[in-house]
Amino acid sequence: MSVTLSPLRVAVLLSGTGNTLASLLAAELPVQWVQVLSDRSDAAGLNVAANAGVVYACLDRDRFPSRSAFEVALALALEQAQPDLVVLAGFMRVLSAGFVQRFGNRMINLHPSLLPKFPGLNTHQRALDAGEREHGASVHWVSAELDAGPLIAQTRTPIFPDDTAQSLQARVKPLEQALLAQVIRDLARHWREQGTLPHTSVSH
Ligand code: GRF
Repeated sequence: MSVTLSPLRVAVLLSGTGNTLASLLAAELPVQWVQVLSDRSDAAGLNVAANAGVVYACLDRDRFPSRSAFEVALALALEQAQPDLVVLAGFMRVLSAGFVQRFGNRMINLHPSLLPKFPGLNTHQRALDAGEREHGASVHWVSAELDAGPLIAQTRTPIFPDDTAQSLQARVKPLEQALLAQVIRDLARHWREQGTLPHTSVSH
């Protein structure tokens, strides 16, 4: 068995609060946080990175004339940071097929539903509206199709009769954060032991 001495280099893309990022940083994962990138200048997640001493940058999508111009800058920033793994943690942009092709084999996403159910937005309300009895979150490899790449792991919770989208979200949040931390921990272990990321799912 080969051993990789350098820790897994992880970059995080986000658009909002950075609550997920904060939970990952608090989990003290055996990785090197090389870069936090936001597509919004008002993303509180940038403060989370700054307070933790993680290198961060904002590529304000509104300042780019097109998605492709934005993605060129994003790709450049990522290439400079040289991440082994890119984590989408509340990143609210749909990435083009070309971008995904470039980074997809090392990019994972956290999504608040039991995929393939409810890709896209408003997942908690949609699960309630559909009469689901169970809900949860998924971590998956990113593919060109939105929220549809190969699943890595899922976490589940029952839906109770008096649940609202808010109560459901409040219950899913800590579960999904723990799930993402565990997936990154597993990927970091694989990286240490094999010197690569797994091509297929990691099991739990
Ligand atoms: C999480 O609910 C995640 O499932 C989704 O975006 C949210 C993370 O945003 N992709 P934040 O870290 O709470 O801002």
